Amino acid sequence: MTQYESVLQTLGSEPKYWLVTGVAGFIGANLLETLLGLDQSVVGMDNFATGHRHNLEQVRARVTPQQWRRFKFVEGDINRLDACRRVCEGVDYVLHQAAIGSVPRSVDNPLYTNEVNINGFLNMLVAARDENVRSFTYAASSSTYGDHPGLPKKEDQIGKPLSPYAVTKYVNELYADVFAMNYGFNSIGLRYFNVFGKYQDPDGAYAAVIPKWISAMIRGEDVAINGDGETSRDFCFIDNAVQANLLAATTSDDNKNQVYNVAVGDRTTLNTLFDTLKESLAENGIRYGKAPVYRDFRPGDVRHSQADISKASEKLGYKPEYSITDGIALTMPWYIENI
Ligand SMILES: NC(=O)c1ccc[n+]([C@@H]2O[C@H](COP(=O)([O-])OP(=O)(O)OC[C@H]3O[C@@H](n4cnc5c(N)ncnc54)[C@H](O)[C@@H]3O)[C@@H](O)[C@H]2O)c1
Repeated sequence: MTQYESVLQTLGSEPKYWLVTGVAGFIGANLLETLLGLDQSVVGMDNFATGHRHNLEQVRARVTPQQWRRFKFVEGDINRLDACRRVCEGVDYVLHQAAIGSVPRSVDNPLYTNEVNINGFLNMLVAARDENVRSFTYAASSSTYGDHPGLPKKEDQIGKPLSPYAVTKYVNELYADVFAMNYGFNSIGLRYFNVFGKYQDPDGAYAAVIPKWISAMIRGEDVAINGDGETSRDFCFIDNAVQANLLAATTSDDNKNQVYNVAVGDRTTLNTLFDTLKESLAENGIRYGKAPVYRDFRPGDVRHSQADISKASEKLGYKPEYSITDGIALTMPWYIENI
């Protein structure tokens, strides 16, 4: 039995009370769906800054009415300490996802990204510490590797941040360390690498590349590639990220006060991604005939990204079950239905 199977079994026999912040967002809604499917009790908080009620409605449609009754939604802002304290009450495991994502958004509006991602994060740490939760797992980011040239990326070798967003995610890690040193409050940071899957917002100027391109292809619009298309990323299907969260939340104290890469350990260029998405759409009966439109490189973007996932594998028992191709095949029907 894998570590993940064993965690799922234990949670099934001894359900816990979870807090998911950013629950109406992409990763949050997927975490909620998995947890409710495992008959856990969940409180979720979101202020709909970038998340959507329709994500929650879709989760509701995918679980049983009995499972849905184990979910309590609180519309609230992590920038309010009182709201953070309220949702932390009685919680066993915190999965803190709420943040303002997107590198370009942070370049356009650094104050907003800073306010939510740093002050809001600190509020959540204080509230979770005071409530003595069993574990606190938070969304860190591969952007913390910044300009470090090493590949694959190892947790202890980071460079200078390349965007305001990357600064905020690194500051989260620094605060997490400082809370361990000063208050003995141990947390785990999961450095996600380009997660994708259902519930990820395809719309707006700051959409992530996979949903943005799928929606452009379905609508027959141009697909723009920033740079020459040889920029590469370690695209990680959402179910792998969900696995990492459940493993991290339930791991032993020895493995806490650490950060872990969450990815697959592969590297896919944007040119290959374009072809893969086109092929997957064709398999679903939608033909996209246009060539990509190449434009300038985007400020703040790193050239290559690929994770070394051995730390998460060895300590947490993390084993990604889905490759990028598996994930795209599983995700495509959702986009076709929802665009
Ligand atoms: N998706 C990725 O590839 C990726 C990569 C690295 C890190 N992350 C991190 O993972 C987390 C989740 O990202 P996502 O892709 O699901 O993004 P998302 O935008 O879909 O979800 C974030 C959620 O947080 C909520 N939120 C924002 N500000 C809030 C506030 N002040 N109070 C309460 N809720 C607030 C939003 O409304 C949204 O529902 C974020 O912390 C993000 O920085 C994501």
